[in-house]
Amino acid sequence: MIDKDLISKYAYLDKSAMLARVFSYPNDLKDAVSRYSGLRLQFEVPKPLKGITIAGMGGSFIGAFFLQDLLQDEWELPLFTIKDVYLPAFIDKHHLLVAVSYSGNTEETIRIIVEARKKGVPTVAVTSGGLIAEHAEKLGYPVVKLPPGLAPRAAFPYILTALTAIVDSVVPSTNLTQSVAEAASFLERHCDNLLHIALDLSEWMLQNYLTNRLLVVYGYRPYLSACYRLKTQINENAKFHVFFSELPESNHNEIMGWETPSNLFTLTVRANEEPPHLRYRMEFLLKLWSERGVPFREVKPAKGNRLEELISLFYIFDLASVLLALKRGVDPTPVETISQLKKYLDTRINLRDVLKPQ
Ligand code: PA5
Repeated sequence: MIDKDLISKYAYLDKSAMLARVFSYPNDLKDAVSRYSGLRLQFEVPKPLKGITIAGMGGSFIGAFFLQDLLQDEWELPLFTIKDVYLPAFIDKHHLLVAVSYSGNTEETIRIIVEARKKGVPTVAVTSGGLIAEHAEKLGYPVVKLPPGLAPRAAFPYILTALTAIVDSVVPSTNLTQSVAEAASFLERHCDNLLHIALDLSEWMLQNYLTNRLLVVYGYRPYLSACYRLKTQINENAKFHVFFSELPESNHNEIMGWETPSNLFTLTVRANEEPPHLRYRMEFLLKLWSERGVPFREVKPAKGNRLEELISLFYIFDLASVLLALKRGVDPTPVETISQLKKYLDTRINLRDVLKPQ
């Protein structure tokens, strides 16, 4: 399950133990379920509840995207996600805003909270602390606390479970958090095989990156969050450029780019049972890539329910991105350029002022 040899092989480089963190996904999910299941939020659920909106950036956004993949085509309640500073006009006091920021100091999420306050939108914060926790305490809106000391992207099992527990608490007919517990056991049963896939994938990506190729990750619903996770995890862990492209939309524009030779390679996430309308498109694309000499791979989730499938893809991709970093000799945890940008913005914008009532 936890490959101790692999962890010790890279201990000299992986100074903040990101690899061990990913290996502990099943435990983290179980720990998160025990922390958050049965969550009771001290606030009044809007009646009627017209929708749930989840806002966050980067590692604090991906849990919302995951929930959209999980629920969007089955759920009648609108689930909206924001990774921006704009709160759409239709979000009013009959919506619930869940503002996720691991650090609690992210400008965009703070601006969304301020906009929501102006419009009287009920808000719940998910954070480990920072200005957002301070502000919530002052104004008396609920905070679901994340464990401290993690990289935001490594807090994914906690963020996801905090979100499912919030949804369960405001929509009593759901029991998503129980399904997360079951997905943790599913992951335990499959993790050896998933590690094998991740090792192979990381080596293939490394060989392509070493020949100056750039990766495009393709996928379709309900696996878009997993594709986007692979992109962002390679960005932050391995410090490489990666592009993410949605099917079938990219068949209507981006596909033209293959008429010109490029230095791209592709990875496509495909369903175990792919509907014909997507299978035919994939047949065409695979033939095109073969003819143009474009290296390509396909990845399928472990067979399970949708939540289990998504978790299995996240596990493969998180491991593969960390292994890619370690194999290229890079410490996966530090995100120096992001930190520098945040420091620079701190010199230009006082977030305490942004939070002050106008
Ligand atoms: O993984 C990261 O470090 C980033 O993507 C952060 O999650 C992002 O910058 C937002 O910060 P926070 O998660 O603290 O709101």
